[in-house]
Amino acid sequence: MEATYNYKVVRQFAIMTVVWGIVGMLVGVLIAAQLIWPDITLQLPWLSYGRLRPLHTNAVIFAFGGCGLFAASLYSVQRTCQTRLLSDGLASFVFWGWQLIILSAAVSFVLGITSGKEYAELEWPIDLMIAVVWIAYAILFFGTIIKRKTQHIYVSNWFFGAYIVTITLLHVVNNLELPWILGGSTSLFGIFKSYPVYAGVQDAMVQWWYGHNAVGFFLTTAFLGMMYYFVPKQAGRPIFSYRLSVVHFWSLNFIYMWAGPHHLLYSALPDWAQSLGMVFSLMLIAPSWGGMMNGIMTLSGAWHKLRTDPILKFLITSLSFYGMSTFEGPMMSVKTVNALSHFTEWTVGHVHSGALGWVAMVTIGSMYYLIPRLFGREEMYSTRLINVHFWWSTIGVVLYIASMWIAGVAQGLMWRATNADGTLTYSFAQSVNAMYPFWTIRLVGGTMFFLGMLIMAYNVWKTVAMGKAVNDAAIPQAVHA
Ligand code: HEM
Ligand code: HEM
Repeated sequence: MEATYNYKVVRQFAIMTVVWGIVGMLVGVLIAAQLIWPDITLQLPWLSYGRLRPLHTNAVIFAFGGCGLFAASLYSVQRTCQTRLLSDGLASFVFWGWQLIILSAAVSFVLGITSGKEYAELEWPIDLMIAVVWIAYAILFFGTIIKRKTQHIYVSNWFFGAYIVTITLLHVVNNLELPWILGGSTSLFGIFKSYPVYAGVQDAMVQWWYGHNAVGFFLTTAFLGMMYYFVPKQAGRPIFSYRLSVVHFWSLNFIYMWAGPHHLLYSALPDWAQSLGMVFSLMLIAPSWGGMMNGIMTLSGAWHKLRTDPILKFLITSLSFYGMSTFEGPMMSVKTVNALSHFTEWTVGHVHSGALGWVAMVTIGSMYYLIPRLFGREEMYSTRLINVHFWWSTIGVVLYIASMWIAGVAQGLMWRATNADGTLTYSFAQSVNAMYPFWTIRLVGGTMFFLGMLIMAYNVWKTVAMGKAVNDAAIPQAVHA
């Protein structure tokens, strides 16, 4: 039998990336509107801000971002290893298992079931499901690398591999918890409730070691893996410096692990640990910018392609946002800067310059590369619509983050302003009132980004209709992936 790649699972994940992107961002738009009009959801408990916010963060990170990463990693590992995935059954299990986890998560958030740990809000039964599916994914990915036909392991696989191993560690350690059922709960929801095995400041430190590395490995290392495959592919050029990719791989992974305490500055955490977090965060600029430059410089000699290729525009712009947010992050880790930025909209601006500018844009660009190929076509239905999508997203992100920066700095300054007699110049309510214009601009920017996703969905729909789903693609002999 002719050797083939498994495109089915890649196709399933790629389509769900677009679907979950729309769902997650729609909830983002809704909560952005709720901040302006708190009663927009008619005071229904299921749609209250406190329940929808974790639904938004989990949907965009783990459903949209997660499906994008599954699609990208399972495609590129086959292509760069020139071999089919280890097992079709395992691949199907990972796809359906992950979708079940997403649905269970959505239902539990709307019902108000949460562990209260940011980005790890899911309760223990779903945590266990995640552990099982994740281990299946690890076996699938590393098993495929072991059976590779190439001698070399291409750098994108290193990044995906580090992400898979680290997320296993983070997920297990941060979710060590005791179900309340052991404490004698008899209520229905009590069955799902659990408490962490850690207490006090140790719990906070474990949580932010997790939280920061979720950013570091889920939202960064893994998307760098995506970048290392799709940027050279779309640019039609080899990666700028293979040596740089190896150096920044090791330094990025080593340094990220120690930066978590920057989320706990001026807290009960020992001062030395806070300073350690700050110093490691400052050091993070170097490997982060190493990756950004390596990606952008891959285009050297082919800059003209940026003029006509909107997929490349998405990919290269995402790298610029990556560079920007990884400059901003270390600055916000400096204690004196954090004294102003913490608790303010500035953090939300920083988050979305990374999340929308980097994560969403690199994913969108990669899906535009991938989707036609999974439907036996050379290109998307409309390149012009990709271009329109690019501009809507770019203007949308800029409106979002610029408004949040201004809002955050204004908020921080208002909170610390004092009169000559030592009393506060502004009440808290006044600082909330000052936010409305900026929240409105953010809503406009976020809506633009969301509408861009609808344009993408239309383009994907048309491409799918014109093409034919490819389940198994022939492995070309002795050519580069
Ligand atoms: C249409 C696009 C989006 C809109 C309108 C939007 C809107 C929002 C809003 C209103 C919040 C709450 C801010 C607050 O509590 O003050 C938020 C939080 C958050 N969003 Fe989004 N978002 C969008 C896309 C994304 C994407 C694509 C990601 C990730 C890949 C993301 C990740 C997050 C995270 C991590 C938080 C929590 C931030 C924190 O705790 O500081 N968002 N978003
Ligand atoms: C060199 C890299 C980075 C460093 C040193 C860094 C540093 C920081 C700092 C200091 C905060 C504020 C903590 C606080 O005051 O509570 C923060 C928040 C955050 N950053 Fe970054 N950042 C980096 C890159 C990124 C990137 C690329 C992303 C997204 C893709 C990101 C996502 C987030 C999120 C989601 C939060 C909010 C956490 C929360 O819920 O409170 N960061 N980061």
